[in-house]
Amino acid sequence: MDKIVIRGGRPLNGTVPISGAKNAALPILIATLLAPGEHRLSNVPRLVDVSSMLSLLGRIGCPSLVHGNDVRLDTSRVSFCEAPYDLVRKMRASVLALGPLLARCGEAHVSLPGGCAIGTRPIDQHLKGLEALGARFELSGGYVHGHVDGGRLQGAHIQLDVPTVTGTENILMAAVLAKGESRIEGVAREPEIVDLARYLQGMGAQIEGAGTDTLLVQGVDTLTPAPHSILPDRIEAGTYLVAGAITGGDLTLTGVRPDDLTPVLTALRQAGCTLTLGSDTIRVQAPERISPVDLTTLPHPGFPTDMQAQLMALMTMADGESHITETIFENRFMHVPELNRLGARISVDGNRATVTGGLPLAGATVMATDLRASASLVLAGLAASGETEVLRLYHLDRGYENLLEKLQAVGADVSRTADDPRVRQFPAKTDAQAV
Ligand code: UD1
Repeated sequence: MDKIVIRGGRPLNGTVPISGAKNAALPILIATLLAPGEHRLSNVPRLVDVSSMLSLLGRIGCPSLVHGNDVRLDTSRVSFCEAPYDLVRKMRASVLALGPLLARCGEAHVSLPGGCAIGTRPIDQHLKGLEALGARFELSGGYVHGHVDGGRLQGAHIQLDVPTVTGTENILMAAVLAKGESRIEGVAREPEIVDLARYLQGMGAQIEGAGTDTLLVQGVDTLTPAPHSILPDRIEAGTYLVAGAITGGDLTLTGVRPDDLTPVLTALRQAGCTLTLGSDTIRVQAPERISPVDLTTLPHPGFPTDMQAQLMALMTMADGESHITETIFENRFMHVPELNRLGARISVDGNRATVTGGLPLAGATVMATDLRASASLVLAGLAASGETEVLRLYHLDRGYENLLEKLQAVGADVSRTADDPRVRQFPAKTDAQAV
């Protein structure tokens, strides 16, 4: 089994370039289906999830070429309106194919999603919104089969019960090509949704209200491919800010959007970090002693659930007791037993964790169960004395571009060993990669 080996206890100092956002790249890649033709996207992170999305597009009939962080895609023809189980089980975000396929082809067959094991993660809101736009769904054989009577979706008034991120994206991608006006209320406001809306607008979509809880869409007949650069990954950035703080270091992140990180920056300031913000840089200087922080995860602009595990790792070093309440996903404390194996003292009561900080962390072998949980174990390993082995790296490869290289460049003693030589080669060093 491949693993990361970390010899902890070294302060990290230097500069970390931040990659494009996974959660913006995925919907934008599949949104290329909405505009038949040749697409060029830049700042696309080289991640397993991105490769999975390109494989899905390839299966649909849309070939792509990857040069570093640039992706060229040809969506002129669609030959297959299906997201099959073997791809969807690797990446839950494949459910994002539903809206674009219904809009483009009038039908979609999408296997029910897998992905991170952090709760039941239903898609009822996706289906409710798409049904309001005129799609009809049937569930059979583990698939959602969708059809649009008459072939074209119709604008509608939709009220979401939960501000779901991918649900909002699915409905938005369908509404931009529907006939007439759609008003979608109670939507999610995450920066990745704003980036998707900007991309769609660049292709000719008529959208108002991105970043608020109501989207107003005037459907258009066609969209035309337009170039787009993916926004920086605020969760990757937040993870490196914690890396600086937890190791007693001094890191400067480049290529970031500080405004997207406001709740994370607030928590880090409460922990005692000194933060210096530039237009696209953030410097974090760790305090002598870390202060405890109480936080609750909420939809944007609240504290992101995708940073909860990393902040918990930091709180294990704090002078005192911190409380972390998880309100987005019901099963997102799976890093707790693993952090405790490294010497932390964390107890969980329902959706509330109590972290008794200040106990020394010591290296151990730990196993990650989801993407951000894996990141929290790497962070804890960087702060722990001795050697930490993080097993099951599949999830980290889904979400962190060049993790090892970026950590090594700022002084971390980390290495990766792999039994499978194909794993060692990822991400590929070649300039061009046909996907
Ligand atoms: C997205 C992100 C993920 C992040 C999450 C919350 C992507 C690819 N993934 O996931 O990294 O952790 O947002 O910020 O962008 N819900 C329903 N019914 C639905 C859909 C969702 O009840 O139809 C609930 C979920 O169970 C959860 C909450 O809504 O409690 C938020 O989930 P959602 O925003 O949909 O998460 P994802 O879009 O899957």
